[in-house]
Amino acid sequence: MAPDHPVPGDRITPEALRERKSGVPIVALTAYSKAEAQRLDPLVDVILVGDSVAMVVYGMDTTVGVTVETMIAHGRAVMRGARRACVVVDLPAGSYERSPEQAYATAMRIIAETGAAAVKLEGGVGVAPAIRRLVGAGIAVMGHVGLLPQAVTEAGGFRVQGRDDASAIQIMNDAVAAADAGAFAIVVEGTVEPLARQITETVRVPTIGIGASPGCDGQVLVTHDMLGLFADFTPKFVRRYAELGAEAERAVRAYADDVRARRFPGPEHCFGVKSAKPQP
Ligand code: KIV
Repeated sequence: MAPDHPVPGDRITPEALRERKSGVPIVALTAYSKAEAQRLDPLVDVILVGDSVAMVVYGMDTTVGVTVETMIAHGRAVMRGARRACVVVDLPAGSYERSPEQAYATAMRIIAETGAAAVKLEGGVGVAPAIRRLVGAGIAVMGHVGLLPQAVTEAGGFRVQGRDDASAIQIMNDAVAAADAGAFAIVVEGTVEPLARQITETVRVPTIGIGASPGCDGQVLVTHDMLGLFADFTPKFVRRYAELGAEAERAVRAYADDVRARRFPGPEHCFGVKSAKPQP
């Protein structure tokens, strides 16, 4: 029987993911450290080093403000823990929108310094020339349309997209532009279900949904959200598969109680001194 996910040891490539269009759904999660990547690597197809690191690790209000250097540091950490998943690193806001050459310089640096397989950037029609430039230079690109976290301030907050005709047409055009420019897959975020399904039926590359219905070719979540590790808010589209935040709090309380009551460290955690006296 064929395995329900690729055999560990085989590095999953962007090309292999492109071929998963309409096939077994693509499983993607975010990671920002080696330890997280080691846990995820045997179980998922894509590890996204998302610029969501700005919010869930650094406590910023939005993803804007994270630097290329920070993305590289987290990308390198994740690559140390990922052997088979396809690692994709976000191009942060301000590092690619000015021109295709700016996008190329940033993407080249990220790929060269992290060893990741691909970069992700937000937008469609506006960034299509940048996607084309990167793909032409051999850099695999994942697109991202619909709710664009790097533009939430201009959009007036984290709002579901595609509710009216004008916005639906814009998002469809963005997805088609990203695919035509050579993106190997496209994240569709915070988008009404009928539009997400229509995009998935229209573009030739896999769509990876987040808040965009099961009609997509795969799904991605922010790992901290689905594990209950991000306490500020939980978007409606997240299913919390664990409550690790509460579990960590329970463990820290037990440790603090033990230290205050001198129950920790115990004898098994202490080091003795070897006797210097010669034995008779
Ligand atoms: O930065 C991120 O984690 C993302 C996902 C929300 C898709 O872009």
